[in-house]
Amino acid sequence: MLPQHNLQILWLLLLLYVSVNGFRFDMMFKKNPEPQEGDVRLSGSKRVSEGRVEVFHDGKWGTVCDDNWDLSEAQVVCRQLNFPGAKAVIIGRDFGQAPGPIWLDDMNCEGTENYLVQCELKGWGKTDCTHKEDAGVTCETGSDNVSISDSTVDHSITLSGDLGQIFDSGTGCDFLISVQSPTGNHQEDGTVETVETTICAHKLILSQLPDFSTSEGNATITVIQPCQPYFTSFIRYLYTHKMDVTFSSAMCLHWMASYFKVKQLMEDIGRLFPKTLPEDKSFDSQVSLYNYAVETQDLILEESCIQYLAWNYQNLTSSPAWNSVSVKLLTALLTCSELVVPDEYYVLQTVEGWITEKGSSISLQIQADLLSHIHFPMIPAEKLYELESSSPLYKAHENLYRENLLKAFQFNVLLFSNLQNSSKFNKEANEYRPRTYTAEPWSTAIDPSSKKEVVRTTYNAYNRRTPYNYGHPIMTSYSQTTTKSFSSPVHSSLVFQNRKITWEANVFKSQYECSNRGVTCESFPTARLAPINPFDTQSNVRYQNRLLLMCQGKYVCQVQSFKGNLASVNVNASQAFAYPCPDDQYTYHFVVRPVYM
Ligand SMILES: *[C@@H]1O[C@H](CO)[C@@H](O)[C@H](O)[C@H]1NC(C)=O
Ligand SMILES: *[C@@H]1O[C@H](CO)[C@@H](O)[C@H](O)[C@H]1NC(C)=O
Ligand SMILES: *[C@@H]1O[C@H](CO)[C@@H](O)[C@H](O)[C@H]1NC(C)=O
Ligand SMILES: *[C@@H]1O[C@H](CO)[C@@H](O)[C@H](O)[C@H]1NC(C)=O
Ligand SMILES: *[C@@H]1O[C@H](CO)[C@@H](O)[C@H](O)[C@H]1NC(C)=O
Repeated sequence: MLPQHNLQILWLLLLLYVSVNGFRFDMMFKKNPEPQEGDVRLSGSKRVSEGRVEVFHDGKWGTVCDDNWDLSEAQVVCRQLNFPGAKAVIIGRDFGQAPGPIWLDDMNCEGTENYLVQCELKGWGKTDCTHKEDAGVTCETGSDNVSISDSTVDHSITLSGDLGQIFDSGTGCDFLISVQSPTGNHQEDGTVETVETTICAHKLILSQLPDFSTSEGNATITVIQPCQPYFTSFIRYLYTHKMDVTFSSAMCLHWMASYFKVKQLMEDIGRLFPKTLPEDKSFDSQVSLYNYAVETQDLILEESCIQYLAWNYQNLTSSPAWNSVSVKLLTALLTCSELVVPDEYYVLQTVEGWITEKGSSISLQIQADLLSHIHFPMIPAEKLYELESSSPLYKAHENLYRENLLKAFQFNVLLFSNLQNSSKFNKEANEYRPRTYTAEPWSTAIDPSSKKEVVRTTYNAYNRRTPYNYGHPIMTSYSQTTTKSFSSPVHSSLVFQNRKITWEANVFKSQYECSNRGVTCESFPTARLAPINPFDTQSNVRYQNRLLLMCQGKYVCQVQSFKGNLASVNVNASQAFAYPCPDDQYTYHFVVRPVYM
């Protein structure tokens, strides 16, 4: 749904080069990527998703003539630019004077090509057109249009409209900002072509930018071209403290806000990014967005990325981006309170895999630091026995493994009588705390949208199961209720291996269903996870269970705890969740987490 286009800009932003020298601001990059043969771009419009189509050939950007230009060609251009699709073709619209050659004419695309130059071409520069016939497109963005307004400047609300008008009039200013962007084209004499706009501003307003000096006269600012259209919006924000942000512009505006230290704006825009996180299956953008957040010191954004990656750790570890995860990010994930994983052995294996892949580029000390975040006592006991032979790092960190294995074995055979002896067992220590383990026997899932028959299992006093079918016509009122039961050991430690507790998990969609189960629900849907027989529980064991909402079976978009066996889910606004789920297609995962009291 969202454009991947902002990912491209993101790559540029990651290379951001910060240097304030005199009154010249170079918002440029260490590596301003050179356009490649066959690249396309949209020019001459303030919108990133619309404009004259230009294609890069032989070191120059040139246009495409609109003969034979229709939606199938437009589709290819939009796809190549990572937009979800094309909305319209634009013919004969003046997007300003195109300086370069007319590269293509009478081209013919199927519409399925990934790059414009894969279409049938008559040849480069073979045309009888003029620039009046340059082809254009409008791509679909699927993006939200979010208004940001700075609540900290309430006192200026009546003023801000007037200030906006003053800015828009472009007159009466005492300071000029020249905004320059290199286009990537080389001119005849070999110099780089730049486009330039001038902004008429006021020193008083610009004094809001802490590092921006207006005392040395007019300023020149160099901005990469994709961000150039938004620089004016950025300066206008200083006048009005209001701004419309789209996902296409968010990345540029965030970067400008961070560069000029406009913290409030940076954080407001930063809050939009998490909505794009589920879009990228490669996890490249999530990992680079995290790095970008660290670089721009946007703590809110950083936190948001860590949370998404921690909830979707399993997918991250099997993605191409896993090996590019930094030590800092890996540490943040391992110490995150809500890491969602099949079991602790999985965490160990992924960390060992990550370290092995990096080889000697990671010092032994850092390796040991990372391994110290493994909750060894939580590793399933049968795996502990194998560690010495199965772990690729055992030899290199023999003492660390031995010590932790000993601790883990002790924990597994620890008797109740010793639970209260703090010299044997510090139950507050992280290593004794479970993460959110989704493997059996600790978890079950309910998909309320599935049309399967609901099988309810009841128990008689002797714990013998009596499954029966609720699909019977008389029981139709129950057909919405979704119920599952499953058994887990009372606690993960070995001494409890054979003591089972049976749980009932429900998803209630109405008061009627709640009442039928004898519970009071405050809102809907409500999830419930409760022991079927309360006598199965152990007085020394407490449960910190979790409800995970999985979106369309693809990613975890929400993690909640239960209050008195119930968790009320606010599916109303997708805003309620950190990460959106398009069609509200949730699967409910119930996770049992026992801890010693
Ligand atoms: C965003 O919405 C505002 C007000 O609804 C509108 O004026 C503005 O043109 C929109 N911006 C874009 C890029 O669609
Ligand atoms: C800023 O630019 C304007 C217009 O070019 C010029 O009149 C003015 O003298 C410049 N100011 C300084 C301090 O250079
Ligand atoms: C996560 O992995 C599962 C199973 O391989 C896959 O079906 C799902 O699409 C993945 N989700 C994302 C967001 O990559
Ligand atoms: C706790 O364990 C230590 C070591 O085994 C033992 O010396 C001590 O007496 C125990 N304390 C209690 C209160 O049981
Ligand atoms: C959820 O949305 C419905 C309709 O859109 C509305 O009537 C209800 O008040 C909302 N509930 C909450 C808790 O916001």
